[in-house]
Amino acid sequence: MAELSGSVVTPIVALDVADRGAAEALVGRLGVHCDFYKVGLELYAAEGPSVVRWLRGEGKRVFVDLKLHDIPNTVRGAARSVARLGASLLTVHAVGGEAMVRAAVEGATEGDPQCGILAVTVLTSLDAATVGATWGRGPVEVTAEVVRLAGLAAAGGAVGVVCSGHELSALHSAHADRLGYLVPGIRLAGGATHDQQRVMTPGPAAQAGARWLVLGRAVTGAADPVAALAAVRDDVALALTSQLG
Ligand code: C5P
Repeated sequence: MAELSGSVVTPIVALDVADRGAAEALVGRLGVHCDFYKVGLELYAAEGPSVVRWLRGEGKRVFVDLKLHDIPNTVRGAARSVARLGASLLTVHAVGGEAMVRAAVEGATEGDPQCGILAVTVLTSLDAATVGATWGRGPVEVTAEVVRLAGLAAAGGAVGVVCSGHELSALHSAHADRLGYLVPGIRLAGGATHDQQRVMTPGPAAQAGARWLVLGRAVTGAADPVAALAAVRDDVALALTSQLG
């Protein structure tokens, strides 16, 4: 799978916008400074596959964040269709089970072998009590649950998992490089955290082993998004250089 090769940390800008016009404005503003975008549920629900085809036509890589969760046969077909659009990454829920994750991987491979499946473990909007109540258990230890579900995702052939920066070290201890780690909730030092609880700056996330960083409002809400993205890259480069030295 092409996406996991190499040891670079790749920034992905989230197109958390309502329609194609707003997406075009943001992609136009970032120009050559960004070649990887996340299309989530809002934009995909509004514009459908055409928005992925348009981004591919612009020469961009695309992470389709649909967080699929259904019976394996249905997820296989959906993953095949998304991969055929030219997506590089697609999300599914690990709690769909190992067979569902494997079906997603097989479907994506049938559509385009370059498309990797990422598994969402425990949504960051859920706390220990809610996870326990939802899954019919007492309160659970969320990090242990994330690590357990990441193991299931790896067994199903996922290329990586979505996690908070604060879970990277536990995931690395348990799964090392079997998985790539995609980290949202990234903020520049001193920036607003908005509604995110567990944020991290780019450098520490890179040092802790993130493979992909999802940049939302830290870049898209900045007065100068190009400068904000450059600051993200600089922070990553500085952190990785100091780690080597
Ligand atoms: O603007 P902000 O940086 O908070 O945006 C983060 C992006 O990452 C959003 O697109 C959000 O849906 C996504 N995301 C997240 N937390 C997760 C998974 C995805 O914030 N656990």
